[in-house]
Amino acid sequence: MAVSAFVLLILTFICGTQPAKWTDSLPDGSLKYACAGDNVHIPWNFALSASESLDDVQWFYQGRSSEMIAVLTHGNFLPLPSFSHRVHFIPNGGIIVDHVTVQDSGNYSVEISGHGDSGTFFRIKRTIILQVGADLMTTDGHLHVSENPMAVLDKRTDQWSIELHCGTFTYLGQPPFDVEWMTPSGKLMSSSTYKDGQFKLLVSAPVQGGNYSCRIPVLSISTACLPDGNGANKGKATYILDQTESRLTLLEAHQTALQKENDALKSENFLLKNSDSNLFDRLHLLEARTSHHVSFHARNLRNTSIQHDSPLIVDHVIINQGNCYSTSTGKFTAPFNGTYFFIGTSGSLATGQTGQFELTVEGQQISFVSTRDNGPLDAASVHGVVHLTQGDTVWLKVSSGIEFWSAATSFSGFLVSPDS
Ligand SMILES: *[C@@H]1O[C@H](CO)[C@@H](O)[C@H](O)[C@H]1NC(C)=O
Ligand SMILES: *[C@@H]1O[C@H](CO)[C@@H](O)[C@H](O)[C@H]1NC(C)=O
Ligand SMILES: *[C@@H]1O[C@H](CO)[C@@H](O)[C@H](O)[C@H]1NC(C)=O
Ligand SMILES: *[C@@H]1O[C@H](CO)[C@@H](O)[C@H](O)[C@H]1NC(C)=O
Repeated sequence: MAVSAFVLLILTFICGTQPAKWTDSLPDGSLKYACAGDNVHIPWNFALSASESLDDVQWFYQGRSSEMIAVLTHGNFLPLPSFSHRVHFIPNGGIIVDHVTVQDSGNYSVEISGHGDSGTFFRIKRTIILQVGADLMTTDGHLHVSENPMAVLDKRTDQWSIELHCGTFTYLGQPPFDVEWMTPSGKLMSSSTYKDGQFKLLVSAPVQGGNYSCRIPVLSISTACLPDGNGANKGKATYILDQTESRLTLLEAHQTALQKENDALKSENFLLKNSDSNLFDRLHLLEARTSHHVSFHARNLRNTSIQHDSPLIVDHVIINQGNCYSTSTGKFTAPFNGTYFFIGTSGSLATGQTGQFELTVEGQQISFVSTRDNGPLDAASVHGVVHLTQGDTVWLKVSSGIEFWSAATSFSGFLVSPDS
C-alpha cells in the first residue's frame, strides 16, 4: 500500500512536469505527397495543460535550402520573406503552404516552446517529409503495362489466369485512385488487386489476345500529378497480349499443378501406407510383448526352384500370433529375448534328386537334413530349440538347389519361454 502510493506520487510528479503533447495523427518523420500547384495542409496540433504557457512557435524548412519559414510570437504570425505570400497559420501549430512546386520538396518542421509548472522550460519538435510531384507519380515518370511470365491462380474462381501489371506507382493520391482496364473487345474492367505500386488484372481462360490498356481515370488525372491536356495520354499504357502464347502458359500451369497434385497424393498415400504398416507391426509387437503369444505356422512354397543359400519361403499362413513371421522374406524375427522352438519340413519333387536344407539363426546352421526321392514323393524335417535375442532372424536355408515339393513344405515355430 505504502509502496504503490509512493509510486503514484512519483508518477504524478513526472506527469506534472510533462510538457505539451501532440494531438494530431502525423507521426514524426511522416511522408506526405502532393502534386505541384496543390495547397498543402500540414495539420500539426498540440495541447497544453492548464499550468503551461506558450512562448513561441517556429517553423523551418530544410531541403534545397535551410531556412526559417515563420514564427508565432505574442499571438502574431510572422512569415519570413521567401514564404510571406504563400504560408498561412492554422491554429494551433499547423500551416498551409500554397501552390507548392517540386522545389518545395523537403523537410518541414515545427518547434513549440513554452514554460510549464514552476517555470520549467520545454520545447517539442516535429518533422514531416514533403514530396511534390509534377508528373505521373510512378517510379520512372511513365506508366507501363507488363505481363507476369507465370500464370497465377485466381483464388476467387480457382482458375489459372494471365496476370497483367500496371504501374509502378509511388503515390495514389488522397483518396487513392484505381486504374481502369480495357480489354481488346472494349470491355471496361477494374483491377483485381493492388500491391507494391502495381495494379493487377487477371485474365482468365479463354484468353482473348490483343490490346489491353490501363489508364488513370480522367477525374483522377490531377491526383496522379498529371497536368490536364496531354496528361491524359501519359496516364495511359497498352500491352498486346499474345493469345496463343497465353493459352499455352495457362495449359502448362494447369498441367504442372495437376502433376504436383498427383505427386502429393502419391506421397501422401505412401506415407499413409507406410505409417499404417508401421503402426500395424508395432501394434502386433506390443500385443506379442504383453501377452507373450508368439507362434506361427505357414505352408506351401511360393517358388519351388530355389537356389543354393536362398530361403524356402512358405506364404500360406495358417497362424501368425505376434506377426513375427514374414511371408515376403520367409523369416521369423524374434520380438524379444527368449527360448523358441522351430520346425521346418520339405522334400524334393523330382525323382532321384537330393534336396538339402537347414534351420538357421542369423544364417548360422542349427540343424540340417537331406532328402532323396527314390521314386515316390519324400520329405524330411529340421527342428531346434534355440535362445534368441530380440531381432534375431530364423529361416530355412536351402543348401543344395532342386525342385522342391510345395505342398509338403511348411515352417512353424513358437515361443517356449520369454526371458524374465
Ligand atoms: C529529412 O528528414 C529525414 C528523416 O528525419 C532525414 O533522413 C533527412 O536527412 C532529412 N532531409 C534533410 C534535407 O534534412
Ligand atoms: C491499343 O489500344 C489503344 C487504345 O485503347 C491505342 O491507343 C493503341 O494504339 C492500340 N495499340 C495497338 C498496337 O493497337
Ligand atoms: C524362382 O526362383 C528362381 C531362382 O531364384 C528364379 O529364377 C525364378 O524367377 C523364380 N520364379 C518365380 C515365379 O518367382
Ligand atoms: C536381450 O539379450 C541381449 C543379449 O544377451 C542383451 O544385451 C539385452 O539386454 C537383452 N534385452 C533384454 C530386454 O533383456
